[in-house]
Amino acid sequence: MNKELIIITGMNTNGCIGKGNTIPWYSKLDLTFFKNTTINNTVIMGRKTFESIGGRPLIKRINYVITGDMNKCKMQLVQDGPTQLYYVYSIDNALQHYACTDKVFIIGGERVYTDAIQREDLTEVIISIINNDVQGDTYFPIWLLDKEFKVYSRKEFKQENDPLILIEKMRK
Ligand SMILES: NC(=O)c1ccc[n+]([C@@H]2O[C@H](COP(=O)([O-])OP(=O)(O)OC[C@H]3O[C@@H](n4cnc5c(N)ncnc54)[C@H](OP(=O)(O)O)[C@@H]3O)[C@@H](O)[C@H]2O)c1
Repeated sequence: MNKELIIITGMNTNGCIGKGNTIPWYSKLDLTFFKNTTINNTVIMGRKTFESIGGRPLIKRINYVITGDMNKCKMQLVQDGPTQLYYVYSIDNALQHYACTDKVFIIGGERVYTDAIQREDLTEVIISIINNDVQGDTYFPIWLLDKEFKVYSRKEFKQENDPLILIEKMRK
């Protein structure tokens, strides 16, 4: 069976995804959605994103961290159980690894999204739009998306302090 390769990202109304190697907002709703969507599946992230989440694997997920220099990765591999951690040189390395599940989420950051969005095997893009307009230093490369993908579903959540728009895009 072919793998499902899915980008999942949270951006603000400027397309910003990060600032100073962190995410410059807190959305409980989005964090819950992210966890519920990715749990028990595979996640692939860049080394900087891995550091931004504390240098530890996300629990109950197969975690692949992309790096060009394994010496930068201090945490030991975790190879058993529902939480696993591996270091790889590319998205392809992760997809070919024996532990990789059939559903695979690309979880950032900008560099890894930019690679993933240009892949022909990318099946879906899930975007949370957070209601603020701060400027950051990393952005989602949305301009690479619109030619190949169309909106499949759009949901608005209107909680007073935590409004969120969820958009799913599928290949045209
Ligand atoms: N809002 C969101 O949904 C979201 C999600 C994730 C991250 N973020 C934010 O995004 C920012 C980080 O993004 P970023 O673009 O700076 O970093 P990144 O994509 O997380 O990581 C970049 C690093 O990954 C490795 N890498 C990526 N592609 C590679 C390749 N093809 N070959 C070899 N190595 C590769 C390199 O590691 P080495 O330097 O070790 O070689 C590179 O320096 C942070 O602010 C983070 O908070 C936001």
